[in-house]
Amino acid sequence: MKASVLLVTALILAVMCPACYPKRIGPPGANGKRLTWPEMSFEQRKAHMGNEVLPRAAVIFKGWRPERYAAVNCSLCHGQGARIGIFAMPTSHLPRLSGDFLLGPEFQKHPQTTRLKLNRLVPEISDALGVKPFSILSRRGFGCYSCHLGPDGPLFGN
Ligand code: HEC
Ligand code: HEC
Repeated sequence: MKASVLLVTALILAVMCPACYPKRIGPPGANGKRLTWPEMSFEQRKAHMGNEVLPRAAVIFKGWRPERYAAVNCSLCHGQGARIGIFAMPTSHLPRLSGDFLLGPEFQKHPQTTRLKLNRLVPEISDALGVKPFSILSRRGFGCYSCHLGPDGPLFGN
């Protein structure tokens, strides 16, 4: 009984929640209300990346492989383009993923990475951006393919 109530609640939230996004996570806009990520200018996005996204990602990557990710910067996700102001995502700087939306091949080849990304990185970064996390129902939202390309290019609305 309890489990079914929880399940129904979760389903209702999943259906209702598109209305809760995007969240107001940015600096105040012209009307005094905080801006959402899509409303922010390029300069405001850069600042938000430095203040929120990079530090939160750094904690996760350092906790996972301390030596390899001892000192991370914008190029962790954006590659060398970051140096010349190119921040388009998803990017070919990162390894391409299979395109399987249930991540079958990723779980098989990189179980640890995939679990870390799914359980920690995706929730953390979608929260930092105030955008809806990826949903397997709608196949839209912030997820693996917001950073990684699929075999032939961007996938799932990215
Ligand atoms: C953990 C990965 C990660 C790191 C580290 C990171 N970014 Fe980003 N960045 C992203 C993702 C993902 C997006 C696309 C977000 C979206 O729109 O869905 C993005 C988008 C951007 C954009 C917006 C691009 C556009 O076309 O509007 C800018 C600007 C940016 N990043 C700058 C930076 C800067 C500057 C740093 C370092 C201080 C940085 N990023 C570090 C993941 C990262
Ligand atoms: C915010 C951006 C971002 C998101 C979202 C993201 N990744 Fe990644 N991914 C990275 C970065 C950064 C690396 C490390 C690249 C490096 O070390 O140079 C990486 C590396 C990987 C690797 C290679 C690991 C290795 O050991 O070589 C795999 C596989 C991977 N990601 C799978 C996933 C999967 C699956 C998801 C979704 C559940 C996902 N990623 C979500 C940024 C992201």
